[in-house]
Amino acid sequence: MLSGTASPKTGGTELKRIVFDEETIARRVRELGQEITTRYSDGELLVLGLLKGSFIFLSDLVRRIDRPLQVDFLVAASYGAETVSSGNVRLLYDPETELAGKHILLVEDIVDTGRTLNRLVSLLKERGPRSLEICALLHKHIAEHLALEPAFIGFDAPKAFLVGYGLDHAQNFRHLPYIASLT
Ligand code: PRP
Repeated sequence: MLSGTASPKTGGTELKRIVFDEETIARRVRELGQEITTRYSDGELLVLGLLKGSFIFLSDLVRRIDRPLQVDFLVAASYGAETVSSGNVRLLYDPETELAGKHILLVEDIVDTGRTLNRLVSLLKERGPRSLEICALLHKHIAEHLALEPAFIGFDAPKAFLVGYGLDHAQNFRHLPYIASLT
């Protein structure tokens, strides 16, 4: 018998607790879309989603931004099947879109140790963007040094291992419509 957060989607796994439910996420994503729309009053905006974790957040977010924009992706990976960051950030896909002269908004699902962002920020700055900002759905505020603090933050996140709404553990749970803690 399934109870609590256990469901067919989790394969019967009982998650510890739902941290942000669907309605709370949708409300905050709407607000972030408005903040971003207001911030970028001119110029070309390229929304750069960091895969795979940002895919759901990015698709909801761009539909809430009321100005012209382009979308492309970066693929980086830092975790294996562990629940702690390995710190070994690998870039697996580089955006094909020209970055020079554009406002780049890097969309990230979660800032944990900050290693992924620090690596990407220096890489993106070398491409000569007009501006570079980060929009992170979740921020744990545990990074010792961040090359660039996110200008847009969805939620301050607890220090638990979070899954759902794009976030995974060993590639599972990304399709949960809410964010839950696994540990
Ligand atoms: C996760 C997450 C962030 C990053 C955060 O990505 O999506 O991109 O780690 O951790 P950090 O701040 O400690 O660097 P992951 O490498 O697991 O790949 P994924 O997006 O494909 O899940």
